Amino acid sequence: MSPSPRRASGRGPAHRPTVVIRPARVGDLRGIAAVGSEAFSGLRPRSSGRRWVNACWKAAPRMRYWVALSAGTVVGYILWLEKGGFRAEAVLELEQVAVRSAVRGQGIGEALIRGSLRDLRRALRARGARLKIIEVTTGSEQGAVGFYARVLGTRVAARLPDFFRGTEFILLARSSPSGSA
Ligand SMILES: CC(C)(COP(=O)(O)OP(=O)(O)OC[C@H]1O[C@@H](n2cnc3c(N)ncnc32)[C@H](O)[C@@H]1OP(=O)(O)O)[C@@H](O)C(=O)NCCC(=O)NCCS
Repeated sequence: MSPSPRRASGRGPAHRPTVVIRPARVGDLRGIAAVGSEAFSGLRPRSSGRRWVNACWKAAPRMRYWVALSAGTVVGYILWLEKGGFRAEAVLELEQVAVRSAVRGQGIGEALIRGSLRDLRRALRARGARLKIIEVTTGSEQGAVGFYARVLGTRVAARLPDFFRGTEFILLARSSPSGSA
């Protein structure tokens, strides 16, 4: 897979710096851990977040990161996980997506999802597979259920009370064989 970097579409004013979305490189891991530890209590302290990020990095191609870069700095990332084997009808979990709090609401999260999914679909096609299901789990305290519904077309499949720090929602988007999720 050799996808070319892409610019975030952005929903904000034109003077904002250009954001590039591309697959992560080993040199991005420190920046990913910094963004992750700001966004998720489970990645704190940052040293613990770095260990987790490094472990996920080593799990490629089962787990894969993409980053959003602004002026060469990691301002966001997304982590995808392939579930149940490298299947002909692939099941992918959006494990984490996070954007620096200072630049949220500018379309970077959406661009991370769309850009990484484009690359993933291409990689699946190259191995003769197709995307069947996208799963996302997210906590009630994170307020991202509507965001995923808008960008991925997910629906709430289950609610799990008292999971990490509250109720966790399991969201699913199913692709038709022609692939629209
Ligand atoms: C969720 C997140 C990745 C979205 O990134 P983003 O760059 O702000 O996303 P966009 O600008 O493309 O879209 C903004 C959407 O995110 C939602 N959102 C969720 N939490 C938000 C927050 N703390 N600040 C701003 N927007 C937030 C907005 O309501 C908006 O939803 P909408 O699509 O229904 O309008 C980002 O807010 C974030 O990092 N949050 C903390 C970590 C998290 O909750 N991750 C998701 C759970 S794994």
